[in-house]
Amino acid sequence: MDKAYHVAILTFAFLFVLRYLVPRVGAGGKGWNGKHGKQAAPRLPPSPPSVPFLGHLHLVKTRFHASLARLAARHGPVFSLRLGYSRLAVVVSSPEAAKECFTENDVALANRPLAVASYGPYWRNVRRVLAVHLLSSLHVDRTLSPVVSGEVRAMARRMNRAAMAAADGGGAARVQMKRRLFELSLSVLMETIARTKTSRTEANADSDMSPEAHEFKQIIDDLKAQAEMDAAVGTSRLVTPDDLPRLGYLQSIVNETLRLYPAAPLLLPHESVTDCKVAGYDVPRGTMLLVNVYAIHRDPDEFRPERFEDGKAEVRLLMPFGMGRRRCPGETLALRTIGLVLATLIQCFDWDRVDGAEVDMAEGGGLTIPRIVPLEAICRPRAAMHGVLQVL
Ligand code: HEM
Repeated sequence: MDKAYHVAILTFAFLFVLRYLVPRVGAGGKGWNGKHGKQAAPRLPPSPPSVPFLGHLHLVKTRFHASLARLAARHGPVFSLRLGYSRLAVVVSSPEAAKECFTENDVALANRPLAVASYGPYWRNVRRVLAVHLLSSLHVDRTLSPVVSGEVRAMARRMNRAAMAAADGGGAARVQMKRRLFELSLSVLMETIARTKTSRTEANADSDMSPEAHEFKQIIDDLKAQAEMDAAVGTSRLVTPDDLPRLGYLQSIVNETLRLYPAAPLLLPHESVTDCKVAGYDVPRGTMLLVNVYAIHRDPDEFRPERFEDGKAEVRLLMPFGMGRRRCPGETLALRTIGLVLATLIQCFDWDRVDGAEVDMAEGGGLTIPRIVPLEAICRPRAAMHGVLQVL
């Protein structure tokens, strides 16, 4: 037992010496940038102190985006991490560096660390089908929007019935937004992509549907969106997708929410196909790129939808759907769905906090930004919309 223990220690020590003292040489005797011969070591972005073998894995915590934002404040907007023994990752946290990644380096950084999503002919074909057919603006307008509208209508009908049936609520129901919105998104996805109806049970909606829930916090606080809705659409009919372009303040709430609570705070990881440079630093082929959209967006960090009103965009860079050739192909569908859901909820119901308590915006861990406390609100059908709600 003792002997085995010593052999293990010696093996680890040997690997450690190899890893840290022997210069790294690429396949076939090539250097880090694939060229033969003696050459300078790559000038990698600065990096926090690491521990042997684990590299910087000990820094990977829940709310990873927030820990990376703190590291960026200390080590700069472009820094590097070793995730485990050999995986190099570069973390970008400034608008300038992010733009550089997805403009001049867009092709070089178009890979994903997952083999199934590699940048190549297969991905290009799938992407073309998505962009030109399934998720194109035209297809969303003609085919998907009616599906979304139908599901939103059904949600409003169910909420209206719940409020009417509430025994002691005086025509108001306490609703858990997470569950309602999750049911809706699932139905829309199943209906549009898989063409399968979901059964609407009242349970099993565990995963968080953050963007709408976060926006909802603002609606509860702010009646400006309802006044805009009444002026632009009125109360004699239900809001439709065609109304959305005229609801400027509503769009501003959506933008401001996706700015402060981007559903994918680190986008999806990218990987360099070839060597490239970001902010003057070398990024060798095979490096993972993490773009901290959360950190980029949080300047300023005050929630103020007006910054987007009248076509203004008082922010340095807004990219909740990513940028460049790997940006989200579902953006049009997502924005249309979020817009219509919010518009309908604002038009049909008056909202209140539960027991007048502040909405708890604390964030949980994970790859998205889920809330720790699921959003609940009191929903009361608006008297002016009674006629419309009765015939949904
Ligand atoms: C609020 C809703 C959504 C947000 C915030 C969002 C955001 C994102 C982000 C940040 C990425 C990664 C971009 C990058 O790495 O540069 C992404 C990728 C992707 N999204 Fe979305 N998305 C949303 C909804 C959707 C929907 C509704 C669909 C499809 C129906 C969709 C399909 C995809 C696909 C297929 C990719 C991978 C693209 C690729 O690797 O080339 N997304 N999304």
